[in-house]
Amino acid sequence: PAKAVAAMSEADPKSLDDLNAIIRRTEPLVPGATQAVLGEGPLGATLAFVGEQPGDQEDVQGRPFVGPAGQLLSRALAEAGIDRGASYLTNAVKHFKFTLRGKRRIHEKPTAGEVSHYRWWLDRELDFVAPKLVVALGATAVLALAGKSIPITRSRGPFRFDRLDGRVQGFITVHPSYLLRLPDEAKAEAYAAFVDDLRRVQALGR
Ligand code: URA
Repeated sequence: PAKAVAAMSEADPKSLDDLNAIIRRTEPLVPGATQAVLGEGPLGATLAFVGEQPGDQEDVQGRPFVGPAGQLLSRALAEAGIDRGASYLTNAVKHFKFTLRGKRRIHEKPTAGEVSHYRWWLDRELDFVAPKLVVALGATAVLALAGKSIPITRSRGPFRFDRLDGRVQGFITVHPSYLLRLPDEAKAEAYAAFVDDLRRVQALGR
C-alpha cells in the first residue's frame, strides 16, 4: 500500500479524465473488486455527493449509487428538487470490499487506513469538478473529507471540512443505507429528515 500511495502522489493528472484513467488501472487496496467505480456527473456541478464505497451492484455495473441505497438516494434527491444528473456523485473509497457468505457478497466497511489511501483521488476529483457544495453522506465520507471522525448526529448540517481548505462549503448528512437498515417504525421519520437535509442542500446550492 505505501508503494501505491507514493506512485499516486507522483502522478500529476491534468484533467478528470486523466485522473480517472489512473484510478481505473490501480489495483484495489483489498483484492476482490470487479472494477473501480468512478465518480459520475458533470464538471462544474454545483453539488457533489460523497458516499462510502461502491456496493455489490455498483461493483458489477461500474457506476456509483445504482443499488438499493442509490435508488433511495435518487428518490430523496428528486423529492428535494435536486437533479441527480446535474450533480456529481462519488465515493470516498473506489473499490467494493466484501466478505463472502455463501454466494452473497456482504459489504464490509472500509478502515480508516483504506479511506486515507483513497483520499488522494477524492481530493483531486473534487479539485477538477470544483463544486460549490460538497455533501458527505455518512461517517466514512465525513472521515475522508474532515481527515478525522466526527459524530454525524452532532454535526449534521452545514460544515467546514478542513480537507477542503475552506475552498468549498460542506454539508453533513446520513448515508442512505443507514435509512434502509432502520426498523420499519423509524424509517419514515428518518427518511423525511434526510429529505429535509437535501432541501437545505438544494437551497445552499442556489
Ligand atoms: N453506497 C455508497 O456509499 N456508494 C455507492 O456508490 C453505493 C452504495
